[in-house]
Formats: sequence, C-alpha cells, structure tokens
Amino acid sequence: MRWSIRMIDQAGKLRRMVEDHNKTGEEREKHQIKIYSVVSGKGGVGKTNLTINLAIKFQQMGKKVLILDADIGMSNVNIMFGVETHLTLFNLLRDNATLTDIIVKCPEGVDLISGGADLLNLEDLNYTKQQQIIELLSELGAYDILLIDNGAGISKHSLTFSIFAHELILITTPEPTAITDAYRVLKAISTYKVKDKVKVIINEINELSYGEQTFSKLLKTSEQFLDLNLEKLGFIFNDIRVSKAIMEQKPVVLRYPDSLASKNISQISKNILEDKNYSCDISNFKQLTNRIIKIFG
Ligand SMILES: Nc1ncnc2c1ncn2[C@@H]1O[C@H](COP(=O)(O)OP(=O)(O)O)[C@@H](O)[C@H]1O
Ligand SMILES: [Mg+2]
Repeated sequence: MRWSIRMIDQAGKLRRMVEDHNKTGEEREKHQIKIYSVVSGKGGVGKTNLTINLAIKFQQMGKKVLILDADIGMSNVNIMFGVETHLTLFNLLRDNATLTDIIVKCPEGVDLISGGADLLNLEDLNYTKQQQIIELLSELGAYDILLIDNGAGISKHSLTFSIFAHELILITTPEPTAITDAYRVLKAISTYKVKDKVKVIINEINELSYGEQTFSKLLKTSEQFLDLNLEKLGFIFNDIRVSKAIMEQKPVVLRYPDSLASKNISQISKNILEDKNYSCDISNFKQLTNRIIKIFG
C-alpha cells in the first residue's frame, strides 16, 4: 500500500469544503453533515446490506441520506436497491456530467452516487477539475448523512474515505477468518492513526452470545495491542429474509420490516442517531488530518 500526503490532504480539503459550505447561509448555519465510512476485513460480511438498510432507516427518521458506493470496480449498492446507475463520479470528473446527472434516486428518498473507476486518481486531474469536484462535493451540504460503502479490506480507497469520514463502522461476522481480517483492519486504522475510535457491528450471529464473544475478542486484542477505542454498535442475527430481500432486490427493512434482521438494523440506526457524539463538533478532523500529515511527512 502506498500513501501520499497529497491524498490525505486532499481528503481533508474535501471535508473542509463540505464543512465550510454547511456553515454558509442562515438556513444551513446549524446544518451539519455526518459522514460514516463502512468497512470490513473479509468480503461478503454484510457491508452493502447494512449500508442500504441503514440509509432507509435514517430517511424514515427524517434524515436526508446520500450513499457513495466506493467499492471501486465492484459496486453493487444499485443492484441491492434494484435501480440502474449509468453515470458515476468518474463521468463527472472525466466528462461533463453534473452532480444531478449522476445521482440516482433510490427507495424511500435515498440518493446514490456510484464511485465508478479509480476516482482516487485525482492527482492526475488538472486544477480546474479538482476545483470542480470540490464545488460539487460541497453540494453535499443538502444532506444530513453520507454513508460510504467501501470494498473489503484495507486499500488506499477505504483508508482515504475513512479519513474523510467522521466515523468508522466496522462490520464482521463471528467466523474466525472474518475476525482475523477485522483485526487487521483495526490494526491499520490504529497504525495510520486514521481514527481513535471505531463502531463495531457483529453480523450474521445465530445466538446473542456469539455477538458478545466476537466483540469481546476484538475488544481484548485491541486494548492489548492497539491504541483504539471500540464501541459496540449492535448485532444482526443471521436471517434468511436478508438473502430473500436481496434476491428480490429490495431492502430487507422495507420488504420484511418485522424480520429479526430488520429489527436489529432498526436498533442500530437508533443507536447511531441517539449517540451523544452524533452532533458533536466535527472540526476535530482538522487536527486529525494535520497529525496524519505530520506522520507521513
Ligand atoms: N444478517 C444476515 N443474515 C443472513 N444473510 C446475510 C446477512 N447479512 C448479509 N447476509 C448475506 O451475505 C451476503 C453478502 O452481503 P453484502 O452486504 O453484499 O456483503 P459485503 O458488502 O460486505 O461484501 C448477502 O448476499 C447475504 O446473502
Ligand atoms: Mg459490498
């Protein structure tokens, strides 16, 4: 994995533009966008399913939500929603597509942008294009929450988006392979000082004790070896209606709202919005960015 200070700085710059934009105008004076990056170690542990269903629940609770499908080259948020995406963030950068052109309307008022091809090659873009994307990203001020669905594991993409985000949500299943990979991601987050706290979800549990044990394992190892705070965000039971809903290309919380998985996701969405730190000052990011720049400088 190769890092560049410029990449980190760029993520910081984009974030500050979004924040500054939110601070202008009377109506938006108090408005803040909260950005969550959803990551995992192993693939197929439920990131995308969690992202789309959380987005639906947030909308139902009165928040305006945008999803960025950042699983570069493997994007599938649209498939789970049963909608088609024609243009991506890449088209916006390379062609003359506008933000309105690339936003796809999804169920319950959720908006979606597909990342498309390697959008972190921003270094290749000329200054005008960079300004353009920053301006367009500042339009994010219209949203309350941005959810970023990442590819599996640690990549320059997932790390950059995680720096860009205010909060990290790590999802894993109780399988030993998934836990090991989740730990590797936590280690990278701690080593690169991406964040000092991570929210953890244990997915596809068959018994409550599996969830507790899995979280305890991660917590113990993190406390022993990493400088990282883990917060238990919730558990999601293994529920056949999740795969049924995916087969039908409908979010499970809409298709099977009374299913156990839907209730679990619903509880998680409440835990997020009712978190005492939900509306806390987001300017901490500046200090964090500066710290990372120092480390890599
Ligand atoms: N709580 C759950 N219960 C049952 N199956 C699940 C659950 N969560 C995810 N799955 C299954 O796991 C598969 C992978 O989920 P997905 O969200 O695509 O993972 P990722 O985005 O991490 O690769 C889904 O197709 C679904 O069949
Ligand atoms: Mg996925």
